[in-house]
Amino acid sequence: MLVLPTIAELRQQLHVERMRTHKIAFVPTMGNLHDGHISLIHKAREEADVVVASIFVNPLQFGANEDLERYPRTFAEDSAKLEESGCDYLFAPSVEEMYPQGLTSQTIVDVPRLSSLHCGASRPGHFRGVATVVAKLFGIVQPDVAIFGLKDFQQLAVIRQMVNDLCLPVTILGAEIARAESGLALSSRNGYLTSGELQTAPLLYQTLQGIEQRITAGEVDFRQLEAEAKQQLNELGLEPDYFNICNQATLELAESDDKQLVILAASYLGKARLIDNIRIQR
Ligand code: PAJ
Repeated sequence: MLVLPTIAELRQQLHVERMRTHKIAFVPTMGNLHDGHISLIHKAREEADVVVASIFVNPLQFGANEDLERYPRTFAEDSAKLEESGCDYLFAPSVEEMYPQGLTSQTIVDVPRLSSLHCGASRPGHFRGVATVVAKLFGIVQPDVAIFGLKDFQQLAVIRQMVNDLCLPVTILGAEIARAESGLALSSRNGYLTSGELQTAPLLYQTLQGIEQRITAGEVDFRQLEAEAKQQLNELGLEPDYFNICNQATLELAESDDKQLVILAASYLGKARLIDNIRIQR
């Protein structure tokens, strides 16, 4: 695996691959890699001849009071894991390489409606930062295919809409959520949890599963189910940020006759904010 810190070096390598008509798959990350990230690399490997990953902790997507400074940076371990999982090129730029004129004079990509909902309501500017950096990364890598985790369901929706609206020539694929044995969705931010909190964290997924079962059994008063779930989360010590039963296509709150649903949930636990979701086909 080649580690490339600059846009110019990466472009040079990928130019050669493209001349050989090799198909390129891309997996963007912020590092501190776990099995969820690695499952995306495996999917990329199945989809293309060449696998490119990036590690870049993108300051543009962190709010002023968020965890940019303490976000875990584990480059040596990450590059070993990527090499082992069959990644060909790792793009690992500095902030200056990505934002040479600083963050404020940077062109911004905004997907306003989707970005205002759910996580976007509690993290203003977050999805603008994500859309902007992913658009830039797509311009740099020019992948045929890019893989994103379904764990960040709203992020995937924002990126799909951006690609569609800007007519970007890249196919977006979603990859299933990788979970610990406890059911807890793997996340770099799980490292913020104490051992006690790690016992509580899986209850978010269990609460989602409980509501999923009730919907599958025929319950349709979604607002009532949301209220009950939030009360339950509070009682379990998982302070809910939101728990929303949504239409899978629009991410608006679901109507009782919607067929494709996604339950999106976020809870605060200690220093971490956990997110998870379950998709339901009725
Ligand atoms: P990061 O949180 O590092 O996640 C990188 C990719 O891994 C995302 O597509 C995310 O959905 C996926 N992922 C994370 N946990 C997962 C899990 N348990 N199962 C499956 N996939 C999982 O998401 C970002 O970085 C950034 O916002 C980024 C897209 C790189 C833009 O900066």
